[in-house]
Amino acid sequence: MYPIRIAPSIIAADFGYLRADLARAEQAGADMLHIDIMDGHFVPNITFGPAIVATIKSLTKLPLDVHLMISRPRKFITAFAEAGASNITFHVECEDAHLNVTIAEIHSFGCTAGLSIKPKTPLSAVGDYLNQISRLLIMTVEPGFGGQKFMPAMLEKVKEAVALREAKKYKFDIEVDGGLDKYTIWPSVQAGAEVIVAGTAIFGQPDAEQAIREMREAAATALGRPL
Ligand code: DX5
Ligand code: ZN
Repeated sequence: MYPIRIAPSIIAADFGYLRADLARAEQAGADMLHIDIMDGHFVPNITFGPAIVATIKSLTKLPLDVHLMISRPRKFITAFAEAGASNITFHVECEDAHLNVTIAEIHSFGCTAGLSIKPKTPLSAVGDYLNQISRLLIMTVEPGFGGQKFMPAMLEKVKEAVALREAKKYKFDIEVDGGLDKYTIWPSVQAGAEVIVAGTAIFGQPDAEQAIREMREAAATALGRPL
C-alpha cells in the first residue's frame, strides 16, 4: 500500500558532527529522519528535547519523524510541533488519558499522528485509534536504547496490522523500529512494514550512503520488485 521508506534514527549519529551526519543521511537518500525522545521515566534513558529537534530542523530538509517515548506526551505536543516535527508518534502505554485528544492536538498543528506499541503490548491496545492515525509504529526491541537485537516475533503483529488495515480500510502506514539492518529488513518488508527505522545500521557504519543503499537493495530483493 505504501512505498518502502528508510528513516535513519539520529540516536546513533555523532552529535559532535551532527550537521555532517544529517547531510550524509540526506545525500544517501533517506526518506525522513527518525528522532527518539526519551524522558528517563517511560524508558530508562534520556535523549533530547524540543530545542535539539529545532536545531535538526534548521539543518535538514528531510521530514522529521518524532518518536515520543515519554510518560506524558500531551504536555509536549506543542513544543515538538513548533520545533518542526512532521509526524509525532507517541505510545499507547503512556500515562495520559483520552489518547484521541492527543491525536487531535497533533493534527491541529498540521502534523500527522502516530501511535506506537512496545513488544509486550498486543495490537488490540491501539484498536480504538487506528482510524485516526497515519502511522502505526511496532517496536521490534524494548524501547530505550539503540543497538539492540531485533525481535522477529514482532513481525506477527505487523502481519496482523496489515490484515486489519485491509479489512477496515484504515490509512496508517506501518513502521518498525529497533535492530533493523540489511538482514532484518528482509522479513520486515515481507511481513508488510513500510517505514524502516535504523540507527546503528546507518549512522554506526563508516559509509551511511552504502548502508542505506544496501538496505534498499535488500528490501527490493525481499519483495521481488524494485522499490
Ligand atoms: C529504541 C529507539 C530506536 C532504536 C533504533 O528505543 O526507538 O529508534 O534505537 O536504533 P537501532 O537501529 O540501533 O536499533
Ligand atoms: Zn524510535
